[in-house]
Amino acid sequence: MLLLVLPVLVEGQVKTLNERVDSVLRLMTLEEKIGQMNQYNCDKNATGPISINTDKAEQIKKGLVGSVLNVRTVANTRSIQELAMQSRLRIPLLFGLDVIHGYRTIFPIPLAESCTWDLDLIEKAARIAGKEAASSGIHWTFAPMVDIARDPRWGRIMEGAGEDTWLGSLVATARVRGFQGKGLGNTDAIMACAKHFAAYGAAEGGRDYNSVDMSLKQLNQVYLPPFKAAVDAGVATVMNSFNTINGVPATGNSYLQRDLLKGSWDFNGFVVSDWESIGEMVTHGYARDRKEAAMFAVKAGSDMDMQSRCYLDYLESLVKEGKVDEKLIDESVKRILLKKFEMGLFDDPFRFCSAEREKNEWNKPENLEFAREIAEKSIILLKNDKNLLPLNKKSVRIALIGPLVKSQTDNIGFWNISWPDDSLRIISLWDGMGSVFGFDRISYSKGCETDGTDKSGFDEAIKTAQRSDVVIVSVGERFDMSGEAKCRSDLHLPGIQEDLVMALISTGKPVIVLISAGRPLIFNRIAESAQAILYTWWLGTEAGNAIAAILSGDYNPSGKTTVTFPRAEGQIPFYYNHLNTGRPAGEKAISGITRTYKSNYIDIQSSPLYPFGYGLSYTSFKYGKMTLSKNNLDSKDTLEVSVAVKNVGRYAGEETVQLYIRDVAASSVRPIKELRGFKKIMLDPGESGKVKFRLTVDDLKFYNNDLQYIWEEGEFRIMVGPNSDELQEETVFWKKICR
Ligand code: NOJ
Repeated sequence: MLLLVLPVLVEGQVKTLNERVDSVLRLMTLEEKIGQMNQYNCDKNATGPISINTDKAEQIKKGLVGSVLNVRTVANTRSIQELAMQSRLRIPLLFGLDVIHGYRTIFPIPLAESCTWDLDLIEKAARIAGKEAASSGIHWTFAPMVDIARDPRWGRIMEGAGEDTWLGSLVATARVRGFQGKGLGNTDAIMACAKHFAAYGAAEGGRDYNSVDMSLKQLNQVYLPPFKAAVDAGVATVMNSFNTINGVPATGNSYLQRDLLKGSWDFNGFVVSDWESIGEMVTHGYARDRKEAAMFAVKAGSDMDMQSRCYLDYLESLVKEGKVDEKLIDESVKRILLKKFEMGLFDDPFRFCSAEREKNEWNKPENLEFAREIAEKSIILLKNDKNLLPLNKKSVRIALIGPLVKSQTDNIGFWNISWPDDSLRIISLWDGMGSVFGFDRISYSKGCETDGTDKSGFDEAIKTAQRSDVVIVSVGERFDMSGEAKCRSDLHLPGIQEDLVMALISTGKPVIVLISAGRPLIFNRIAESAQAILYTWWLGTEAGNAIAAILSGDYNPSGKTTVTFPRAEGQIPFYYNHLNTGRPAGEKAISGITRTYKSNYIDIQSSPLYPFGYGLSYTSFKYGKMTLSKNNLDSKDTLEVSVAVKNVGRYAGEETVQLYIRDVAASSVRPIKELRGFKKIMLDPGESGKVKFRLTVDDLKFYNNDLQYIWEEGEFRIMVGPNSDELQEETVFWKKICR
């Protein structure tokens, strides 16, 4: 057998593969073709012996299933693939799984990873996850989720890269590269899937599965670029989304799937529906019945039906009745078969089923080490009054208080789907702190649960605090409080956790608050009164070790927010790159001087609790004055922007320098600032470094009202600084003449 292990597909080989695809297609009956478009869930989410019900097993043997999701381990994928090998044409199955932020080794949730602002690290996390999953028989992950999210009520905000389109596009590219490694066909690479196409993150009210209604300009400008970036990076598949867009379900949306994705973007992979989203077009009120739903979906370009059975049940009769052209079926099947060929599965359907490889990838110490590194870098220092942190390793008696101190599972987050013993591998805060500071110097009290109103543990928690030099309180969300269908209308710390923190603060002891969550929460009282705050998200397998490294100063925090932290739910949607309005809000407004007739709320400050791009370090960085290579530019010019940064504190530290632009006047009004560059710089105490950015007219482009992607000449503000709020600014003029 000829193995296809070529890392890159060159022209000639693509043709060869297409010919091979055609030769298989010619042998297929209509029923078998439709079978390739059918994807089932396996029946038990377990790692024990696989369970697939007899009905599905029989269908696989008849060639009526193209892919199965949620199967894992070499033994299980092998046994199901063997069923497919009993079918007439022996077409291999694809095994898909939600490998969202790790497989065996769990990394921080994607939102947390994005706060590293480190694309190499993000790519590496996906690379390791891809390798581990591939070694376990998996061919395909339903990741990355590249939905832009400006609404933290939406539980799936945890799964993306935050609110910024430009950053989100870079992260999308990094994750696709990571999963797909050196190219499909390598046995350590899995197919990535950019999801959810499209605008799923813009669901009204931040409620999952809810409707989306927006201008095509907004869709193209804000929500689609990360998908385009994923396609340009060679993503193998795209998943459509549950929501309607402007009245049409995304699953039945030809503009998205045919005109853009498969048309102008030239995507050569296939589109999988989201779970039962084809059938749900009936519930939406778009299709009259499941048969019509199947017709709408296939016509709109959805190639594979995840779990709804609409294709299997109705496509054949739709073709026979002349309602669906068989050419559409052929097109979808070709796309699916092409990926199976590219993965080398026609050459060897069991090439991902090596027990030896699985064993080798199982518990790699270097993967755990990397998990700790990326977890450390995902943590954000929000406050550190009087340099309370880092703690002196030797001299402190530490009270560890809170419902999440000893928690393991919660650090995996919502996608805790992998292994039954996963939670046992998680390093809790308690264990991490014990190994760094010594168990004899830490004491524990739970205080309360993550939800409910029971305050009976407060007294003991207060006594534990009083016996210590410093209090660390670990609060936040349980793993099932952010994620799919985990939307919240109240974003304060759940239950009475805030009261617990306030009770501890009132002991007078220095209090460090650790907030673990899948979204930015609201905690104004704590932000005001705690001495130090670390936002630790859900950090995965190495959570406790990473947090202990930060608390002890073994690692100096460098994470910065990629979402805006609101002061109140009423400010949502809340994002840094908004338009100015004719009456911009201002902080003075709250003092009463200019409050009336401004774009403010009368009952709250207009600013966020923490802005986009914000995060502190144990050291301090001083920015010099930015310099520009020129102030008057034309189309062919590159603007060079540089700024000196000096570490003026006591610790070595890493700063993420950010660059924003503003198009001052445009035919379609542009945001007050837009991220267009960032650079990370590591500096020793006393050391200075220069950070340089380059901008061209490509960085100025936007969609105008006719949906043309253009730039317009005029005045632009160039802003540089440590976050989206503290920026120095210069002005340049960019003209449309070419030398
Ligand atoms: C539904 C989710 O929306 C999607 O992201 C996921 O990949 C599928 N379920 C499969 O688990």
